[in-house]
Amino acid sequence: MEVETQSTFTHFKPGFCQPDCIEQDCPTFTCPGPAGIPMAKSDFISDSIDNNLFWLRIMMEHALFMRLGFACVNIDLINEAQEFEKEFSKLLTQAMKVAHAPTGQKVSNLNQASIELTRSFVCFKTMVLDRIITCGPAKIGGYNFPLLIDHIRREGITFISVLQALQTGRKEPLALSIVREQTFWHRIMADHAKFILHLLDPSERQFVEQANSLSILFDQKRLEALDLKSMFEPNFVLYPILKRFTRDSLKAAMQIRDFKAAATELIAKCELLSVIPELLADHVRREAERFVQTMERRLHELSQIKI
Ligand SMILES: [Fe+2]
Ligand SMILES: [Fe+2]
Repeated sequence: MEVETQSTFTHFKPGFCQPDCIEQDCPTFTCPGPAGIPMAKSDFISDSIDNNLFWLRIMMEHALFMRLGFACVNIDLINEAQEFEKEFSKLLTQAMKVAHAPTGQKVSNLNQASIELTRSFVCFKTMVLDRIITCGPAKIGGYNFPLLIDHIRREGITFISVLQALQTGRKEPLALSIVREQTFWHRIMADHAKFILHLLDPSERQFVEQANSLSILFDQKRLEALDLKSMFEPNFVLYPILKRFTRDSLKAAMQIRDFKAAATELIAKCELLSVIPELLADHVRREAERFVQTMERRLHELSQIKI
């Protein structure tokens, strides 16, 4: 079965999406390290399917959130977002089919289609962010926070990056993978806490306080992860501190996941005062769950290596 590559969304000017924008977090240089540095494990088929099933749904929902946040006069943007929603939905259905009987070729075609569509979507997000924060006739209003668009753009870039590594068979040291995942997810969780904080009704004082504490916690975790990344970067040896930091990251990830799960449940029962749609609450809960699973998997890998 063929998975078609998408070519519908190619009309954004190159200035809106520099090719190097997907090379985020790459180290500028590394020194030749000691031999036998453990590399991150990956499995082309299962990791590709897993990432497509998770991220395609996330991308589809980003298109929906963007659409709902545009001012009603920006009909072109609303329609464009709706097109992306449809395309991601189609690709997600395709991914589910491939997941039932995967072969190397089908998975590779799926990955390529996801890379193409997500690239166009990242360019769309970039163009929208530009129009939100610019000044002049191109400026648009609406209810999409600039940080939200930047945040969902980072998620899109990460999805592309993961798929590209799978497509090219690029391997990297385990320490680099872990510390990169931590800098990425801590920042994502800190952003979520801030979005929740701003969308809760101000009268929900206890929840507002909890969200604020989580925002401070994850800003701090991110800075710690960046410090570790800087220390590891020259050679990516596995140092014992990585185990403890990964355990701590898992603990923090579980804490925010449980907070989001409780909030999602209350929103579903209309027992929480906020302007947070139930789907958005569930979306950020699923992302926290992904962070938890990623850290659990890495801890398992670390436990099998003598450090
Ligand atoms: Fe997201
Ligand atoms: Fe997110």
